[in-house]
Amino acid sequence: MIFSQTNFTILATLLHAALLAQADTPRYAQKIDPRSFAVLDNVPTGIIFNGTSHFMPPGTTSESLKAKPFHIYDDSFYDIIGSDPTLTLLAQTDTDPIFHEAVVWHPETNSVYFAQNAGPVAAGTGLNKSAIVQKIYLDEADKIVAQGNGSGFVNITTVNSGQQVINPNGGTNFRGKIVYTAEGQGDNIPAALYLIDPNDNDNTTVILNNFFGRQYDSLNDVAVNPRNHELYFTDGPFGWVQAFRPDPVLPTQVYRFNYDTGVVRAVADGFHMTNGITFSPDGMYAYITDTGLSSGFWGYNYTNPSTIYRYDVSDDGNFSNRQLFAYNEIRVPDGIHCDKQGNVYVGNGDGINVYNPSGLLIGKIYLGTTSANFAFTGKGKMVVCAETKLWYVNWNAEGADITSREYMG
Ligand SMILES: *[C@@H]1O[C@H](CO)[C@@H](O)[C@H](O)[C@H]1NC(C)=O
Ligand SMILES: *[C@@H]1O[C@H](CO)[C@@H](O)[C@H](O)[C@H]1NC(C)=O
Ligand SMILES: *[C@@H]1O[C@H](CO)[C@@H](O)[C@H](O)[C@H]1NC(C)=O
Ligand SMILES: *[C@@H]1O[C@H](CO)[C@@H](O)[C@H](O)[C@H]1NC(C)=O
Ligand SMILES: *[C@@H]1O[C@H](CO)[C@@H](O)[C@H](O)[C@H]1NC(C)=O
Ligand SMILES: *[C@@H]1O[C@H](CO)[C@@H](O)[C@H](O)[C@H]1NC(C)=O
Ligand SMILES: *[C@@H]1O[C@H](CO)[C@@H](O)[C@H](O)[C@H]1NC(C)=O
Repeated sequence: MIFSQTNFTILATLLHAALLAQADTPRYAQKIDPRSFAVLDNVPTGIIFNGTSHFMPPGTTSESLKAKPFHIYDDSFYDIIGSDPTLTLLAQTDTDPIFHEAVVWHPETNSVYFAQNAGPVAAGTGLNKSAIVQKIYLDEADKIVAQGNGSGFVNITTVNSGQQVINPNGGTNFRGKIVYTAEGQGDNIPAALYLIDPNDNDNTTVILNNFFGRQYDSLNDVAVNPRNHELYFTDGPFGWVQAFRPDPVLPTQVYRFNYDTGVVRAVADGFHMTNGITFSPDGMYAYITDTGLSSGFWGYNYTNPSTIYRYDVSDDGNFSNRQLFAYNEIRVPDGIHCDKQGNVYVGNGDGINVYNPSGLLIGKIYLGTTSANFAFTGKGKMVVCAETKLWYVNWNAEGADITSREYMG
């Protein structure tokens, strides 16, 4: 090959770019090259390694993966993490999973709400005692970032003990308030949608608790369709397989609820365990996670979905053209949210996976433990629940604009 001046220039530019990328990898980030594990020396059987195991690429350890928790699988992730992303521990508990799900940022009060896990028997929640909703103020979290570890300093307040949300599990902004899904409790407290008003001492009211007289199974998550502003929520047998709700009397489905007219209708079925739900920023797509791989007393079934599905959303708000958007590699994909560019973030067995709109895994926030859910909390900020730990991410990404839709409604 003859090197023309042009070739040299191109080569030099490429080399320069490669060196820059290397030099520019932020201190808490590392590149993970999928080619590094395309062929492994030893690929164990499913008895040893399966959908619940934590995958560690060759040459890495649990410590090295956690030490630089921003994992770059594709160079487009550099734009998302920015030049110096940080991960700060905001709070931790010994065993009680109080940082579970339903993470919602309320911009007006700059507070972040989250719910305790209703499922674990050790927490005593579910059948005999409802899981609680708690909140923190982000102003306090911001003070802590400079200190590195904020555990024990950020105040955590329990939300409305007046009328509790009974076994809360999912939530989102709605018309200046927060709407929560609740799984219910035993035979007589049905699964329901609740509205919490952060501007009125967290006054809490039930806004939906049945489908034409029938109990929902266990409402899991809720999102607002940015085009028609209706509430879309998922329902599955979670409380039943965790022994705090009776046998389901409805299939595992996704519903839409028009708060103004009271109309409820089913929009999708055919799931094992329908879980998280969100919309793309333009409202053209809905993303729904199916956590069928892990099913309470049914145990693990590795051939069940651990999958993010994408639907087309029509002008009239129906769902069609279900597509497999991504199959999750570690445990199950749970809470799901989009950023402003339409990238898709999902909590899973080892932290948070980030996919581009084509479904390519471009990066991870690696915690080494399950994150069931998280919330974008303003420009460059995210709060992450990881059962016994609450984390704060400071980076470039910004959530899809809730101030113009879910928030104002
Ligand atoms: C899956 O792997 C884990 C260890 O990573 C093991 O404890 C479990 O028994 C395996 N499951 C099955 C069904 O073999
Ligand atoms: C609920 O309370 C009953 C009666 O005290 C007890 O037998 C049962 O184990 C409790 N269940 C859970 C899940 O805590
Ligand atoms: C937590 O609340 C206490 C009592 O009001 C206050 O002194 C402290 O500064 C708060 N923590 C932070 C991080 O602001
Ligand atoms: C953070 O600080 C708390 C309270 O001082 C301490 O108990 C905890 O071990 C620290 N965690 C880390 C990861 O440094
Ligand atoms: C809570 O909100 C409901 C519905 O808006 C209202 O009827 C009720 O009076 C409020 N309760 C309190 C204590 O403000
Ligand atoms: C796992 O799920 C598949 C598909 O639903 C089913 O055929 C199989 O019997 C299940 N296996 C177990 C062990 O439950
Ligand atoms: C849903 O919307 C799509 C796209 O507009 C349309 O093709 C389909 O017929 C609609 N389905 C129902 C049940 O209305």
